[in-house]
Amino acid sequence: MHPSANQPELTQADIDVEIAERSAAETDAAAGGALPSHPRRDYRPYRSTTLRHPTHELVRADPEEIELVSPAFGHTDVAPEEADMTIQHAGEPLGERIIVTGRILDGDGRPVRNQLVEIWQANASGRYVHKRDQHPAPLDPNFTGVGRIVTGDDGSYRLTTIKPGPYPWKNHRNAWRPAHIHFSFFGTAFTQRLITQMYFPGDPLFGLDPIYQSIVDPAARERLVAGYDHDVSVPEWATGYRWDVVLTGPSSTWMEPEDADHA
Ligand SMILES: [Fe+2]
Repeated sequence: MHPSANQPELTQADIDVEIAERSAAETDAAAGGALPSHPRRDYRPYRSTTLRHPTHELVRADPEEIELVSPAFGHTDVAPEEADMTIQHAGEPLGERIIVTGRILDGDGRPVRNQLVEIWQANASGRYVHKRDQHPAPLDPNFTGVGRIVTGDDGSYRLTTIKPGPYPWKNHRNAWRPAHIHFSFFGTAFTQRLITQMYFPGDPLFGLDPIYQSIVDPAARERLVAGYDHDVSVPEWATGYRWDVVLTGPSSTWMEPEDADHA
């Protein structure tokens, strides 16, 4: 989605070599120790991040000052219907209806309750309702792809939606993102907001995707992949996936850096 970063002459084979080189370099640097669970900001196979990542120390601002003007929300601001992205229009969206559920936990395993969770995704054809997504896949008049949930007392959330399709992006020639759902966790203040992506098990594009592969620790990558859970599936209605999120600590789910764009 970054025209300045487009390199149509760059092939998937070129990117595959770079991914393998970066992975080997990180393994060497770790020298048998733990691999970093966060990607390098200048991870070269993901071309646009190499062009826009910060090269200077971030300017630290007083969080309290920012929070004076930050957005705020209350329980009554989020309607229960916002957790069902299949009922936002007059008709039903096309695609595979799914339920995604799980718990949001802190690093000590405690539930993160009353948490605003925001979700956005492509439709079943892999198309976003966004002016910068003009690739030739159909929009669905019955699917916007945006939802919100507030977690329960046990930190749980439950989302009904359509399984998103993979979509092309212009990182290199014939570049495709694995199917994913974007998640934002608001925290207790705007300055704590964390953003990540949830993937689906067994996606054939995992090995080819520079965003997914920018996390060089395989265990950290796998924490972004939901599991199919037959107990979540609803007969004659929807298949179910379970995805738990740990916000902090050594088993935390990877979150995007503050300056990331969201392909
Ligand atoms: Fe996306």
